[in-house]
Formats: sequence, C-alpha cells, structure tokens
Amino acid sequence: MERDCEAGFSNMTRSTLIPVLALLGLAVLGLPARTLSAEPETVERSMPPVVSTATGLLLEPALYLTNFSTADFAAASRTIGAERIHKKWTSPVVTLPPHPRQVARGLTESEVKAYMIEVRRLFDKGESVPISDVGLISTQEDVVRKPMLNHIAAFSNSVARVYLLVQRTSTDTGWSYYSIVQDLTLKSPLSYFAELQGIAVKFEGISCYKCHASGPLAIHPARADLISDAPLAVALNQHIADQPVSRFHFPAGETPPDYGKPLGLKFCTKCHEAEGDRSPLFKVHSHPIRILVDFGYMPPKRRLTPSEIAELKSWLDQKP
Ligand code: HEC
Ligand code: HEC
Repeated sequence: MERDCEAGFSNMTRSTLIPVLALLGLAVLGLPARTLSAEPETVERSMPPVVSTATGLLLEPALYLTNFSTADFAAASRTIGAERIHKKWTSPVVTLPPHPRQVARGLTESEVKAYMIEVRRLFDKGESVPISDVGLISTQEDVVRKPMLNHIAAFSNSVARVYLLVQRTSTDTGWSYYSIVQDLTLKSPLSYFAELQGIAVKFEGISCYKCHASGPLAIHPARADLISDAPLAVALNQHIADQPVSRFHFPAGETPPDYGKPLGLKFCTKCHEAEGDRSPLFKVHSHPIRILVDFGYMPPKRRLTPSEIAELKSWLDQKP
C-alpha cells in the first residue's frame, strides 16, 4: 500500500531533469530567481522521454522508430486535412448540445450510434480538438511495428462522453474511424465501441476489449516528439483518468469467451479490480500490460520492484 506513494527514482528523474537544466541555464544567465516561477509550465509543455525500463516483459525489442522523423510525422499526420487538426483550444473536451430527450435510464443503441456519427461529422468539419500522435501501444510488439498515426478527439454532454479515433499506419492510404461512447445515464455507465464505415456504425466488442479493458485509454506517444500538442495530451489524459468506472458493452451476437481469472497481484488490483477505479485485467490484456509496465506508465507513480516484475512476468507467461 504505502509503496504506491513513493515516487520511483526514475520517474523523478524524468520530471526533475528539465527544471534542473532550466535552473542551471538561468543561473548562468544570472537572471533573478523570480523568473523561475515559469518553471512548472516548462514541464507540462513537453512529454517525458519514452523509454523502455528493460523489465524483460516485452516480447519484442522496444521500437524507437529511428527512421521516422518529427517532420515525417507532421507530414503523414497532415494527410487527414490540415484544417482538421492543430486547433486552438481552451478545454480538451468539446461540449455537445444537450440530449434531445429526457433520459431516465439508458441511451438506445440508435442514440449511441447517432453520437458516433455526429462526432465524426464535427471532426470532418474541423470542429473538434484532436490530439495527433503516433501511439505507443499500437506500434510496439507484433501489432504493427511501424508508426500508427492517430487523431483523437473528445466530446461530452450530461448524458455521454464520446471519443473519436481516426487512424492509419504510416503505409496505409485511407483513414479508419472508431468511436467510444460512454452512456452516463446508467447507474453503472456502459462503454460502447464501434468502427464507423461511412455512415454505417458497426458495434465491436471482443476486438476492442483486448486493449480497452476499462473504456478509453490514456494517450501515450511512441516517442516524445511524435505528438502534436503535449499540453492537450496531458489535459485529455486527465479527463480519461477521471472517467467514471464503466462496464464494457459486447454487441448482440458476440459472446465474449471465458477470459479466465483476473490478475490478482495486489500492486495492480489496488486500482484494477471489480470495486476499483479501473476494471479488472485478464490475460487477454497482456499486450497493453507488458507495454504500459515496461515503459514505466503502470503503476502510475512508481516502478515495480524486481520481485514484483518477476511475479507479473510469471502470471503473464502462465498457460491458461
Ligand atoms: C492493440 C490495442 C488496441 C486495440 C485492439 C484497440 N485499441 Fe483503441 N486505442 C488503443 C490505444 C493505445 C489508444 C490511445 C492511442 C494513443 O496513445 O494515441 C486507443 C484509442 C482509442 C480511441 C480514442 C479514445 C481513447 O481511448 O484514447 C478510440 C475511440 C478507440 N481507441 C476505439 C477503439 C475501438 C472501437 C476498437 C475496436 C474496434 C479499438 N479501439 C481497439 C489501443 C487499441
Ligand atoms: C494507483 C492506481 C493504479 C495502479 C496501482 C495500477 N494502475 Fe493501471 N491504470 C490506472 C489508471 C488510472 C489507468 C487509466 C489512466 C492511464 O492509463 O493513465 C490505468 C490503466 C491501465 C491499463 C490500460 C487499460 C485500462 O484499464 O485502462 C493497463 C493495461 C494497466 N493500467 C495495467 C496495470 C498493471 C499491470 C498494474 C500493476 C503492475 C497497474 N496497472 C497498476 C491506475 C492504476
């Protein structure tokens, strides 16, 4: 328990190095100490370096996309239409109009689909606040092993939180559209997932659940420079971390397989369990687990000890 309160040394290095360097610079210039009040902002305006912590959890060597420059990223990202991205923003979440009817309990499936179509329309018209990046989780391991370009936009009103993902790999030509809608009118909110094929909305479950254990995922770029607007990512991640605990919607006609026993290690179940802040994790979530722990994002505030890593590794490697 207490361990989670300790700041891991390396996490500390990440966040203190920049201000320390800034301090040194200012000392050299002989600027008055007062100028230092600008320092916290410097930290939030860039992403910390993205580095494997060499836990041994990764199944394939960590990928740093060395042949893909910041300029390559900007050019590839822009093919969606420059007018749709890099928006000025004050809130990372665009407010949707109030829901047209009083909802006592539960949006209908067609209302959910209508939200998905509406956010696609807003994005296409340039009326959203997208964050563009090359995503870490989808790029690593055997998923694609090449840059996965994402544009992600968030929306909400009092009945729903809605997300749009516009995605392609660096070698595809067309963009695919995906959406998540969280129905907040239910006592225990429900997250719907879909692929948008033109105006057709196809609900998906099993294929999304293996990464989206608890609904939307935080934005983590594959490299600190492969993101359009770091402060926007920070603000959006805050919105995602603050989301209500939600249940996962499996569409009619999809029977989820037996996922076995949930991960029971207490340094994870402190948050990831039935009564926790996030839903339980199963073997099917091995891929995001390996990546988020190895790159130092999970647990959020510290590093696992070598023996905890060994426990996690043996759980991940166990045959079901
Ligand atoms: C291989 C893992 C993986 C799978 C499978 C996956 N996603 Fe995602 N998804 C991600 C990651 C990682 C992000 C955040 C990307 C980033 O850092 O930019 C994301 C982001 C999103 C977002 C933007 C909101 C958010 O969560 O940040 C939507 C919408 C989305 N995914 C929908 C879907 C849908 C619908 C499916 C199933 C058809 C799906 N995803 C399957 C990994 C996955
Ligand atoms: C202090 C609470 C806390 C602990 C402890 C924690 N997590 Fe998380 N985890 C979160 C939060 C909050 C998110 C969503 C926001 C984010 O990704 O930053 C998350 C997201 C994740 C995700 C993405 C899927 C999802 O549920 O959103 C995975 C996978 C994950 N954590 C794995 C782990 C593993 C493995 C451990 C143990 C080694 C762990 N976490 C420990 C709070 C925690």
